[in-house]
Amino acid sequence: MTEPKVLEELEQVKNAALAELENVKDETELLTWRNTYLGKTSAVMKAFSSLGTLVPDQRPLVGQGANRVKTMLEAALTEKTNLLKESAMAHSLASQSLDVTLPGRVIPRGRLHPDTQILRELYRIFGDMGFQVYHSREVESDEYNFQLLNFPVGHPARDMQDTYFIDAPNRGDNPLLMRTHTSPGQIRAMREFSALNPSDPPPVRIIVPGMVYRYEQTDQRHETQFDQLEGLAVGERIRFSDLKGTLTEMARRLFGPNARTRFRASYFPFTEPSAEFDIQCFQCDGKGCGVCGGGWLEIGGSGMVHPNVLRNGGYDPTRYSGFAFGFGVQRIAMLKYGINDIRYFWDNDLRFLEQF
Ligand code: DAH
Repeated sequence: MTEPKVLEELEQVKNAALAELENVKDETELLTWRNTYLGKTSAVMKAFSSLGTLVPDQRPLVGQGANRVKTMLEAALTEKTNLLKESAMAHSLASQSLDVTLPGRVIPRGRLHPDTQILRELYRIFGDMGFQVYHSREVESDEYNFQLLNFPVGHPARDMQDTYFIDAPNRGDNPLLMRTHTSPGQIRAMREFSALNPSDPPPVRIIVPGMVYRYEQTDQRHETQFDQLEGLAVGERIRFSDLKGTLTEMARRLFGPNARTRFRASYFPFTEPSAEFDIQCFQCDGKGCGVCGGGWLEIGGSGMVHPNVLRNGGYDPTRYSGFAFGFGVQRIAMLKYGINDIRYFWDNDLRFLEQF
């Protein structure tokens, strides 16, 4: 008996299919291939449906042959499917690989304003010496900004600080104003502390940082607003040497272990005696240079708290004494970083800010 012709044809179809499968590159091509060789109209499927038209003794032969071919094609299809999956995965891994020799990208980062940096440094320095940060208000009354600090109404020393007054009605001798200095924080803090135990008020060790406002012509060294740092220590047997020690320690921490301080007699209504304090120039070590002029940098005011001020804060001046100081924070930053114009601080010019 001769081999039925269908089987011969199926053999050829199978060879063609397997050859074609070799060249299939993606899922779409694979789907087409599957329709062509295993779909309803494919030669194999047709062979099955034609079985009924064959003479009986050829049926099993053709049936088995067609089955063999179908099984082979299906196996080849499965193998190819897996192969395509693997290569797709490998491809996507390759696209994710890193070139470790590429130069890194610089990520732009924000930074702290130089004013914030210097303030935080001052908080650390005074925190180490046992001082708390006390925040007082920027809108003040004449009473707190002047009167309770021993500047009576009409006192000539008020002219030292040109004041922005706030237009509020019916306040007579006690108008509202923008604080001209952080010193009113002394009264607010002392009153708050002494209220805790009026007959035996606790000691005070505070710094008061914050903006102050002055009605002034601006220039390289003057702004209409700037930060001050006020200091206040009240307790029993506090002496001028404690003030000197505290400010000298601040100078050393800011400008290095050899920093020296100098105190010059001065006048402030709220301290007696009063002194302005200087730090020896860190640029020239006191020889005199472009930064300092005469070898010393003027930093701020200080003194022993006036008895009237202690009393106004709720502290009996026959039992308590205290020292106080106040200085411009920007002035310290200018000296430390060599900034020659105070107006840079609030210009928000990135060319300035990015240097810190
Ligand atoms: N409040 C003064 C000013 O702004 C600075 C000052 C001087 C503060 C002497 C003090 C001090 O606490 O004792 O000019």
